[in-house]
Amino acid sequence: MGLMRSLLLAASQNQWLREHATRYSFMRSAVSRFMPGERLDDALEAAQILQSKKIGAVFTHLGENIGDQSEARRVTEHYLDLSPDLCFDNLKAILERAPKSSVVWVDMEASNYVDATLELYRRVLQAFPNAGICLQAYLYRTREDLAKLLPLRPSVRLVKGAYREPREIAYPRKRDVDENYFALAKELLRAKKANRCARAAFGTHDLALIRRFSGFALAEGCSKAELEVQMLYGIQRAEQERLAREGCTCMVLVSYGTYWYPWFVRRLAERPANLWFVVRNVFKG
Ligand code: FDA
Repeated sequence: MGLMRSLLLAASQNQWLREHATRYSFMRSAVSRFMPGERLDDALEAAQILQSKKIGAVFTHLGENIGDQSEARRVTEHYLDLSPDLCFDNLKAILERAPKSSVVWVDMEASNYVDATLELYRRVLQAFPNAGICLQAYLYRTREDLAKLLPLRPSVRLVKGAYREPREIAYPRKRDVDENYFALAKELLRAKKANRCARAAFGTHDLALIRRFSGFALAEGCSKAELEVQMLYGIQRAEQERLAREGCTCMVLVSYGTYWYPWFVRRLAERPANLWFVVRNVFKG
């Protein structure tokens, strides 16, 4: 793992930085490249613009590592293992109100939450077929996790993985992560074709990888519309529009909320060149 990436991932978990960095206007300006704003209205407005380009939206209200039950209840966040039953009730409350045609995606956080998150997902999937789960290609275990989920006809969003993980549990080299992603993508696409998977979504901005699994999907007889690529707001915009124009299902994840610091610093870690946005905004004042 690159030194800069390690430093940034460590910074993303730093409480002091989280409390202080978000007060600076240059940080707020820099984050606006990846997030239309903190308010739900900002996210909805961005989704409308995307819709005019035939690009769908997935919304994420940012929040994680919630520390007590009242806070967890207030924001109805879904991923923590402080109380599996509370988590289940919160997620169920969201799913009960969600239209059956929209997938409620459960994100995957660092590896110590994977077992609890998958257990939660299995529980909700029995009652709510429109629940979806994110799986991370950098983890060695994901191949087996996917195999165990497929009999339940899940909806899966495959991503590379954004956290700092030890080499005992995750591929340390990017090349190996990419290869594992491709292997898992093929598995998912075959499952989709055989109707063993309700929805297969590929959360990546890696154009070479997108070309590889798109080629595989079309050769396997999937239609372009069945090929679903999800990207983050503000990243690879031209590619988002190209995919939508060509008839693929392209969705953009639009984040909003005030708890953006760790999420934003992970975006910097994914591409340290993004630090220039921060630096440029320092000088803009
Ligand atoms: P990779 O990092 O190889 O990037 C490929 C290319 O894309 C780069 O060369 C660059 O051009 C561009 N790019 C990538 N990231 C960029 C950035 N931040 N800024 C500018 N350009 C960038 N992770 C996780 O652990 N749990 C989760 O639940 C999710 N959820 C999720 C949902 C969706 C819809 C997406 C797109 C991603 C996630 N992720 C995630 C994040 C994911 O694990 C991963 O860290 C990022 O997608 C970056 O990896 P890529 O697949 O884009 O490839």
